Amino acid sequence: MSDAEISPDLPPDLPPDLLEEHARLLEEARAAFSSAADDKALDAARVKYLGRKAGLVQAEFDRIKTLPPEERRAFGKSANALRKAVERELAAARIGQGIGQGIDEIDHRAPKLDMTLPGRARELGHRHVLSQTTELLVNVAATLGFSVAEGPEVESEFNNFDALNIPREHPSYDPFDTFYIETPEGAEKLVLRSHTSPVQVREMKRHAPEPLRVVVPGRTYRPDKVDATHYHTFHQLEGLAVDSDITFQDLKYTLDLFAKGVFGEETLTRFRPSYFPFTEPSAEVDVSCPFCARDGGACPVCKATGWLEILGSGMVHPKVLSNGGYDPEDVTGFAFGMGVERIAMLRHGIRDIRLFIDPERGNDLRFLEQF
Ligand code: PHE
Repeated sequence: MSDAEISPDLPPDLPPDLLEEHARLLEEARAAFSSAADDKALDAARVKYLGRKAGLVQAEFDRIKTLPPEERRAFGKSANALRKAVERELAAARIGQGIGQGIDEIDHRAPKLDMTLPGRARELGHRHVLSQTTELLVNVAATLGFSVAEGPEVESEFNNFDALNIPREHPSYDPFDTFYIETPEGAEKLVLRSHTSPVQVREMKRHAPEPLRVVVPGRTYRPDKVDATHYHTFHQLEGLAVDSDITFQDLKYTLDLFAKGVFGEETLTRFRPSYFPFTEPSAEVDVSCPFCARDGGACPVCKATGWLEILGSGMVHPKVLSNGGYDPEDVTGFAFGMGVERIAMLRHGIRDIRLFIDPERGNDLRFLEQF
């Protein structure tokens, strides 16, 4: 067999000038690289074949000077082709193991950018269902000419109670009892506001004697026992209108339109006499149940009554008007307040208030992503 002949069981992609012994060595190296199980084994195989001192490829170069001068040229050429081929096999094996280093080899063997793959969609967050509900309520109020104001969650005891005509030693105080903030002896007492109504007083002081029409969204607190419909932390939307000749008709008309804007055009409203220390007269407002026919049936939401209570309201008490800086002889006003959680629960059929923000039961993405 001549030197240049290559046996038929060797792969066809060998360099053309390779002597048969070099072709065999290349095959051996290829097999050693591709069967290396990990980085360490591959590196051992690299040293065995490509090592500078004792590598088998280097040994072929060392042999050149022992050959008769006329054979040296062809042998040297083959040895060079062998080294290149073995290096290429090593690079290929590295890529196969995911440890490729020669960027050139990687680039043509495993393109990093595949233009045919679909793009990666980034998930966008969205607003919490309570924020969405607040936004809806504020937007409906805006169509009725109300602007938006806010007040502090840590409020003076005075604004939360006294300015609103809520007597300290009276049963009507109880629904508005709240958490007190520790303050130094003699300093103004501070509370977590138990409703958004104290912002009525703040806004009146800011605007009096000018007329005003404002809604106030915000977070409120009460030391209620937690259950499916009560939570210590919740949200309200307050409404207040003060002007020279506001009547109970304006209250009814405005809240009827408001209810239609929130629950739909067909919605009916019902006003029931009620009591709040800061309004006189006062009314609770029901909307016709959007989940069942008006006559009830067996609807679990309105408990077959056909009506759902959604808010408290009334004509602003003269004492509150004067606490706000108005002369009750000159102006009248109406006010209303509702729970944002309750509206969200009614609109979306949510059964448990704890699902909204409770650290254990609430704020779960599987719940929130539905809205
Ligand atoms: N502040 C009352 C509450 O929290 C609601 C209300 C607001 C009632 C304004 C009348 C007028 O229950």
